[in-house]
Amino acid sequence: MYSPTKLIACALIFAQLLGSIHCGVYDNTDNWVLSDKTANFPENAVLGGIDPYGYNNYVGRIVYSSSILPARVRAETGYTTFNTEAVANQATSYELLVANETVSYQWVRSYDGFREKNAVSVGTSALNERVYVCRARTDGGIFIGTLYLAQKACIIRYENLPLREITKYEVLVRKVNVAALAPFDNKIN
Ligand SMILES: *[C@@H]1O[C@H](CO)[C@@H](O)[C@H](O)[C@H]1NC(C)=O
Repeated sequence: MYSPTKLIACALIFAQLLGSIHCGVYDNTDNWVLSDKTANFPENAVLGGIDPYGYNNYVGRIVYSSSILPARVRAETGYTTFNTEAVANQATSYELLVANETVSYQWVRSYDGFREKNAVSVGTSALNERVYVCRARTDGGIFIGTLYLAQKACIIRYENLPLREITKYEVLVRKVNVAALAPFDNKIN
């Protein structure tokens, strides 16, 4: 385990060396597109939830305080929120997860930090744990949340609403379309 002082040291050293504050490492398995509200919203962004205001939320990721974390992005305004295991926050720059002809994404029911096959990881936390994308229904919406398997719950904190730790939730998993990968296999000439 890292001590709190070690974590702070890590963040400070990186801030000085790179001008950014993180020790988290991005996962590069999936297609993530750097974006902000000035950019066009990608066609194949992955839908994740609905906030209490009725806006669709798409799956994003951000870097915050030595961790890579899942984010909730509104297409209309670019309003982006996320949470750690404790705090709720907002971001102005983010990456959006996008699907393509061969790779699509699904939400599957899960619980208690079970490691689902092909679960989408956004990257690692300051504790060097993989961080996964979950979602759950609470507080008048469906919220994309942060899943650390060791914490055995989907952690959701949105704006001023209370912190939620939900043990039955959905996990985002990757699905590879084999037919698209081998388009000529089934062709009859
Ligand atoms: C689709 O996305 C996957 C995952 O990022 C990538 O490996 C693959 O090359 C992409 N396929 C196409 C057709 O762009």
